Amino acid sequence: MSRCSSYIQENRDRFLNELFDLLRIPSVSADPAFAGDVTRCAESVADHLRSAGAESVEIISTGGYPVVYGEKIISPDAPTVLVYGHYDVQPADPLELWDSPAFEPVIKKTTLHPEGAIFARGACDDKGQMFMHIKALEAMVQSDALHCNIKFMIEGEEEVGSAHLEPFLEKHREKLAADIVLVSDTGIIANDIPSITVGLRGLSYVEVEVTGPNRDLHSGLYGGAAPNPINILCEMIASMKNEDQRIMVDGFYDDVVELSAAEREAMAEAPFDEEEYKSSIAIGAVEGEKGYSAPECMSIRPTLDVNGIWGGYTGDGAKTVIASKASAKISMRLVPNQDPETITALFEKHFNAIAPPSVSVKITPMHGGQPAVTPTDSIAYQAASAAMESSFGRTPVPFRGGGSIPIVASFEQILGLKTVLMGFGLDSDAIHSPNEHYGVFNYFKGIETIPLFHENFARLTGQG
Ligand code: BES
Ligand code: MN
Ligand code: MN
Repeated sequence: MSRCSSYIQENRDRFLNELFDLLRIPSVSADPAFAGDVTRCAESVADHLRSAGAESVEIISTGGYPVVYGEKIISPDAPTVLVYGHYDVQPADPLELWDSPAFEPVIKKTTLHPEGAIFARGACDDKGQMFMHIKALEAMVQSDALHCNIKFMIEGEEEVGSAHLEPFLEKHREKLAADIVLVSDTGIIANDIPSITVGLRGLSYVEVEVTGPNRDLHSGLYGGAAPNPINILCEMIASMKNEDQRIMVDGFYDDVVELSAAEREAMAEAPFDEEEYKSSIAIGAVEGEKGYSAPECMSIRPTLDVNGIWGGYTGDGAKTVIASKASAKISMRLVPNQDPETITALFEKHFNAIAPPSVSVKITPMHGGQPAVTPTDSIAYQAASAAMESSFGRTPVPFRGGGSIPIVASFEQILGLKTVLMGFGLDSDAIHSPNEHYGVFNYFKGIETIPLFHENFARLTGQG
């Protein structure tokens, strides 16, 4: 066992308890009611970095929640790894669907986590995964096993679109100078099938509002002739996908990069059990664009989904009314080379064009992010692959993920840095949902694997 491993073993309970303390802080970036907690969480992350052995720890203000920075520089000749993560979390609601309170972490066993999993908002996304890097730093410092310079950049606005992070990168280019960005904010296929994410989708997110009559109307007196904005919004949304599940927004696919047959064959190597997928979310059948497999539809193909829809009367009992307005929130996941601004503009043009003359529409773009693909033929990928191979006893499978981390594209555009997405969560960990959890196995596997990455990266760059 390596020196780091024995240190990690000896400090297991404390490593769990310290994560629990962090999880007790409700750092919900979306809801201003939690502003004080988000700030308090930044301070806690800074304290943890300091006690783990990081130097020059700072809480750097942005136009929004601050970025926590810290570094451990061992030599100007050693390669530098920039670790990115986020300390903010998604709102915990609906609270009544949690089996135990969202900000009171507990360990419970599950079928996929027989060793137990930590249940709390942020356990997997991303406090638990971000904290692995802080504990790995501590283990490396205490075991005298540092091979790379390490810089930490932990932000507080990932879950609300990282609006202030691009200016932050521009402003702190020199401080952030590195050879590679390392991120644990994604997942693996299964605890016995390690994988490395090599692609993320982009995002275009809009809110739409359809207005019909100038006030709510009696559905008997006016119904039949008065345009019903809820019916019309539903028809408009339904028309945006055809029977093959193709998105009908004009120009939507113009910039989509089609994968070669060889690339699609390589993708199909990643294990996927459709029956297990269906039963894990209790659905009768998978959907998806004609001609593409379910894993392809979830990663290399773009989507258009309604995330919320409202209007009219939704209280108890019945109210016979034709509402004046109906609204929806719509997300489009994007793939290379779709550009979020272009897609938002195409959506606006299309949505206006399909609105019947009986209603008016208002479209509010929310946030966006570029898709990203990370290389598999790089030293950093090899370092991650070899690290996971040692810790899991099996070579990780490269695979394209469906989620979004918009700042990854900006790391390349602004800092000229590639990213390695070495995450340890499972899709079934219920991130963003009630009962989010993170396997104790996964937490410690991450803490074990990270020092191996640094060691391999230094060796493979010829500087270890
Ligand atoms: N960590 C997730 C993204 C993720 C999870 C990627 C699992 C791959 C696998 C991140 O915190 C997230 O939730 N991102 C948002 C985007 C953001 C702009 C709100 C998302 O994907 O919805
Ligand atoms: Mn995340
Ligand atoms: Mn998230």
